[in-house]
Amino acid sequence: MNPVFYHNDSGRAWVTIDNPPVNATSQAVRAGLIEAMVSAERDNCRTGVIVCLGKTFVAGGDISEFGKPPQEPHLPDVYWQLEQSPVIWAVALHGTVLGGGFELAMAAHVRVAATGTRFGLPEVNLGLVPGAGGTQRLPRLVGAELAADLASSGRMIDAQVLFDAGGLDAVVDDDLEGHIGKLLDSASSHPLTTSERNILPVADDYFSTLAVSVEKKAKGAKAPLLNIEAVKWATETDFSEGQVRERQLHLALRDSEQSIALRHAFFAERLVSKPAVIKNVSAAAVKHITVVGGGLMGAGISAACLAAGLNVHLIEVDESAVTAANERVTGLLQGALKRGKITEAGFEAQRKAFSCGDDYRASANTDIAIEAVFEDMRVKQKVFVELAKHIRDDAILATNTSYLNPEEIGADIKNPQRIVGLHFFSPAHIMKLLEIVATKHTNEQALATAFSLAKRIRKVGVLSGVCDGFIGNRMLAAYRRQGDYLLADGATPQQIDAAMRAYGLPMGPYELQDLTGLQIGWANRKRQAPTRAATERYVSIADQLCEKERFGQRSGSGWYRYESNNRSPVVDDEVEQLIQAYSNKNGIQRRAFTDQEIQDSMIAVLANEGARILEDDIAERALDIDMVKIHGYGFPRWRGGPMHAADTMGDDAVAAILATVDKQSPNSWVIAKKYQR
Ligand code: COA
Repeated sequence: MNPVFYHNDSGRAWVTIDNPPVNATSQAVRAGLIEAMVSAERDNCRTGVIVCLGKTFVAGGDISEFGKPPQEPHLPDVYWQLEQSPVIWAVALHGTVLGGGFELAMAAHVRVAATGTRFGLPEVNLGLVPGAGGTQRLPRLVGAELAADLASSGRMIDAQVLFDAGGLDAVVDDDLEGHIGKLLDSASSHPLTTSERNILPVADDYFSTLAVSVEKKAKGAKAPLLNIEAVKWATETDFSEGQVRERQLHLALRDSEQSIALRHAFFAERLVSKPAVIKNVSAAAVKHITVVGGGLMGAGISAACLAAGLNVHLIEVDESAVTAANERVTGLLQGALKRGKITEAGFEAQRKAFSCGDDYRASANTDIAIEAVFEDMRVKQKVFVELAKHIRDDAILATNTSYLNPEEIGADIKNPQRIVGLHFFSPAHIMKLLEIVATKHTNEQALATAFSLAKRIRKVGVLSGVCDGFIGNRMLAAYRRQGDYLLADGATPQQIDAAMRAYGLPMGPYELQDLTGLQIGWANRKRQAPTRAATERYVSIADQLCEKERFGQRSGSGWYRYESNNRSPVVDDEVEQLIQAYSNKNGIQRRAFTDQEIQDSMIAVLANEGARILEDDIAERALDIDMVKIHGYGFPRWRGGPMHAADTMGDDAVAAILATVDKQSPNSWVIAKKYQR
């Protein structure tokens, strides 16, 4: 079906794009636009309007086409033809005008947006620069400063901001097309095209200064800097030269590893909320949430639910705990107000939607009850039993646990099909990841409802089966274990941290442990000790640190030491000696590791654990694992997640690295079938 309709209304061309879901400029849309322009000129139309059906104007190029060779007509040519057309073209803008859509708007002669329309050049988020003049026309329209900011950050701006910067002719509350009609009626001659405009000069060091701050934030991603470079071309060359350079760079970047990884992440983010098990299952309506436990986790979960417009009742053990929980949640809401995340009215509404008490009877009308108490099986079991006495039979019973088996937590519950694990990450009102843990009893509606809650509270929900640590912490355990083997064999914490930061992670494993505290890991290792394979190599350096009460930043020392009131890790001789002594005692000849060796082995063990997680049916798809690591553990998005990164390295290469890892620590790894050679 042709996604572009042409209609001549008494000398005014009406071109309607109807290409759901987001009116992306697929090949058929590009061809349709050309055809419509030819028709308008043939019909001697003086003016024309381009509008889009559905909830948005064109929201970009069709990302699914980016992996294939570009097909004619090419977008820059379509927009050039539009700009050079004798017809005066207007665009009626609504929704999210992004990438190729924004470029289309810039090439038109008259731009009118509905109030609330948002604009942006998100190509940078896909490892790209715009491909149809975005970096060349935008500086001509709104100045190089705003253009460089938008192109390098991918952030969206509101129509009013764009209007104030000179990028729109009008922003209107209603009757978009009527307003455009009037503007076109009064347009006597062809307006100056965007590409003909001059760019106001910027300070000599403007781009270089911006590049320094952008590079720091990019943490290895290349596209942000390249976008600045492309905007700079607009200030140095004429339009046609700049456009050719931009297009060449865009096409080259489409084939780059970073762009392929970022496109994988884009689609994975949309697929992750649709696991096969909940296909065609509808979620139950959710309005009331009960949270048990008002500590850091419970308060964060409450704040996340309140921000989504849900009613939250928090249960604590006694009056003083209720007061403390109340203060904690109010503090989070006040923080949101102070940072401008919510308005005064929003703050009041959330305060009103929140209540707190010590009586389980208040949970009678809840749709989902989430226990977020201390990580202790008996305590959690008791909370579940208490909740089950009061909540409706069809209400969902959720446990926020990082390691315990939700099935066991619900062992005494009559209808276990409504039990689900909801593993939030701390701080729960900020961190994006939510592992949704299905036991063998959990029914599909409970899962669908959990996914719908995740979406509502703006989390990336990922389905996980039951295993020690679920997807994320099971992966983390393998990663840390390999780190410890490297330490014992000759690396230092600071070298491993630096290597993983260079890989793109915000922090290395040891500085991260110091930040989050070493106690949880210690407790886990003790818990796992009875079931650990006797042949598995066990490095006890972390235990020794804990025995010395070096629990990380909060205790003033851990893998590093910390000066008072300073969070910067300082290399500590005592730790180096401890590691050295450990190696000596175990007869290990310490040797040097290159950063590459460290990175390779750390990623290979992650990929191996991920492959085993798939073999064990804990995750449904590799993309689920990638989403866990990107949204819960800071894995660089531009690497696409560990599974995608390993695929990029190639199975044979990963298998070879794993063979070396295996040789260095015999009988310690189970190699996934995929990597057995
Ligand atoms: N090309 C192809 N498909 C796209 C697309 C694009 N540019 N933008 C969105 N889609 C698809 C999504 O994959 C999703 O498909 P699905 O329903 O099969 O999962 C669907 O459109 C809806 O997108 P979604 O993101 O779930 O909807 P939303 O309403 O939350 O957000 C946007 C809409 C437009 C804001 C968001 O999709 C977006 O940011 N898209 C990317 C825009 C972009 O990067 N453009 C520049 C490309 S160079």
